[in-house]
Amino acid sequence: MLNAPAAERNKEPILAVLRESVDTAKPLNALEISSGTGQHVTHFAQGLRNITWQPSEFDRQSLASIDAYRAHHNLPNVKPAIHLDASLPCENWGGIQPESLDLVLNINMIHISPMACTEGLFKGAGTILKPQGVLLTYGVYYNGVTSSVDYILNLMLAVNKHVEERMLEAIFVYFPYLELGLPKNMQL
Ligand SMILES: C[S@@+](CC[C@H](N)C(=O)[O-])C[C@H]1O[C@@H](n2cnc3c(N)ncnc32)[C@H](O)[C@@H]1O
Repeated sequence: MLNAPAAERNKEPILAVLRESVDTAKPLNALEISSGTGQHVTHFAQGLRNITWQPSEFDRQSLASIDAYRAHHNLPNVKPAIHLDASLPCENWGGIQPESLDLVLNINMIHISPMACTEGLFKGAGTILKPQGVLLTYGVYYNGVTSSVDYILNLMLAVNKHVEERMLEAIFVYFPYLELGLPKNMQL
C-alpha cells in the first residue's frame, strides 16, 4: 500500500467538510476522482457509512494501492477502483451514468495536472451529478494563475447554468478555508 503523508494530515479536516456538505443519514453514491493511494476514500468510507464510494485513478500503480487499502479495511461501501482519466469526456469514465451521483470528490489534482483535467472534472461532474449533487474539490487555489478561485469561477461560467449552480455550492463550501488561509494540516 502506498502512503502519502499529506493524505494522513488532511483526511480528517476534509472529512469534517464532507460531513457538513452532504446528508449523513440517507444512502448516497459518491465518485472520487484521482483517489491517489486510497487513504482518503477508505477514511471517508469509515466516517460516512451511508455513502457508497467509487474510487478512481489515472495511475495504474495507485489503482493497486487503492484496492489494497480497500481489502485491508474490508469496507463494504467502497467499490473496486476504476481507471479514470479526468481529461476525457465522462462517457469514458467507466460507464457512470448521467445524473446518478450525489457527490463527486477531487483532492489535490487540479493544481498538479494539465488544464484539460480540471475542465474534464467540472464538465463531467455537471453531467454525472444529480440536480442537487455536490462537487467538492480540495487543493491550492490561491497565489496562482491556473489554480486560482477566479479560474475555477470562470470555468463554471463556461458550462451551463444548471452546472454553474452546483459548482457554486462547491466553491462556497471551500470559502471558509480560503478566508482562514491554509491551515497546517491542509498543506500539500
Ligand atoms: C497530488 S496527487 C493527489 C492524490 C490524492 N487525491 C491525494 O490527495 O492524496 C494527484 C493525483 O492526480 C492524478 N492524476 C493525474 N492525471 C490525472 C488524470 N488525467 N485524470 C485523473 N487523475 C489524474 C494522479 O494520478 C495523482 O493521483
